[in-house]
Amino acid sequence: MTTHPIDHLGRPLRDLRISVIDRCNLRCTYCMPAEVFGPDYAFLPQSELLSFDEIERVARVMVGLGTQKLRITGGEPLLRRDLPLLIERLSAIPGVTDLAMTTNGLLLPRLAPALAQAGLQRVTVSLDSLDAEVFGQMNGLGVGPERVLSGIEAALAAGLGVKVNTVVERGVNDTGLAELWRGLRKQATVRFIEFMDVGNHNGWNRERVLPSAEVLSRLASGEGEPLVFTPLPSRHPGEVASRFRSSSGHEVGLISSVTAPFCGSCSRLRLSATGQLYTCLFATQGHDLRAPLRAGATDAELSDSIRRLWTQRRDRYSEERGEQGDTQRQRVEMSFIGG
Ligand code: GTP
Ligand code: 5AD
Ligand code: SF4
Ligand code: SF4
Repeated sequence: MTTHPIDHLGRPLRDLRISVIDRCNLRCTYCMPAEVFGPDYAFLPQSELLSFDEIERVARVMVGLGTQKLRITGGEPLLRRDLPLLIERLSAIPGVTDLAMTTNGLLLPRLAPALAQAGLQRVTVSLDSLDAEVFGQMNGLGVGPERVLSGIEAALAAGLGVKVNTVVERGVNDTGLAELWRGLRKQATVRFIEFMDVGNHNGWNRERVLPSAEVLSRLASGEGEPLVFTPLPSRHPGEVASRFRSSSGHEVGLISSVTAPFCGSCSRLRLSATGQLYTCLFATQGHDLRAPLRAGATDAELSDSIRRLWTQRRDRYSEERGEQGDTQRQRVEMSFIGG
């Protein structure tokens, strides 16, 4: 039995989130605003990205350290060429029990069968509104929700588990939350995410955060008798979403990084597409693994360096947010480490 590395605050390392590309085919205002990520934005050239061999190697080393959960992210991971080949390699690693992906869903109609065939178990699809105008404005490119809905259908038809992530911004999409939940709750677990101050460009401020408690009260009304929500136990240690079941028998998840930070149980390590390891979503700096990988480091050396990094970890950004106004640091972009 492998012992998980434990950080300075007693948190075990349990999962790895792997970003495979920094590009995206949407420009969500809260993540990659079009004014910043425009036609001249310098995305990474292919040569800078970790190869599938290198990603698989890091995943194997992580599994050797006790990690069982892998999540593929981007940017938009489905833009990475031949992604099902990577999935096939990761799903074949003995000890990987959960292999998931976070995606905007646009390419799922084409790719879902190959991904499922390759061993992907589930997808989390981002969808912020069923209102075409609101969604088009939030994704920065006027793309309508029906394209994402087709992606969700394709994933379900391929046998993948599906969750939906909805970022909630007060004054932007907060009036359509109940409609979205009612429209999707039979097919997928919808999770509402409080708008976060990730990256450096999304114009975040506290007034634009709709607290999760208020999300729940908005879901409660509009269907005759007000719905009652009962908390559900978490399914695994370090789960970021608080889950509830409504009196109508449907589930909803709330990801409340602003009003109820969950740093105390945060067990995620993030690998960027360039091979930088980040111990927090709000980190200012990564730890380069690509140089040692390309300089011939052994598995034992890579493993030691990850263990050392984790053991020294003290990150608890979302808890500190309330303690001091720390808004000036240059942070890693969400699209670079995949949320
Ligand atoms: P499962 O519960 O295994 O399905 O995965 P998950 O909820 O971790 O996956 P997902 O990538 O969908 O995470 C949901 C969202 O929660 C992310 O996109 C982020 O916006 C947010 N999130 C995830 N992990 C963290 C974290 O460690 N810190 C903060 N502040 N937010 C996080
Ligand atoms: N606040 C909250 N969630 C965000 N995501 C991206 N940017 C933000 C933000 N500023 C979510 C997306 C997607 C995942 C990658 O992260 O909705 O589901
Ligand atoms: Fe792309 Fe996802 Fe960021 Fe939207 S949130 S710009 S879909 S990476
Ligand atoms: Fe983990 Fe950092 Fe998110 Fe806290 S803010 S839960 S430490 S990633």
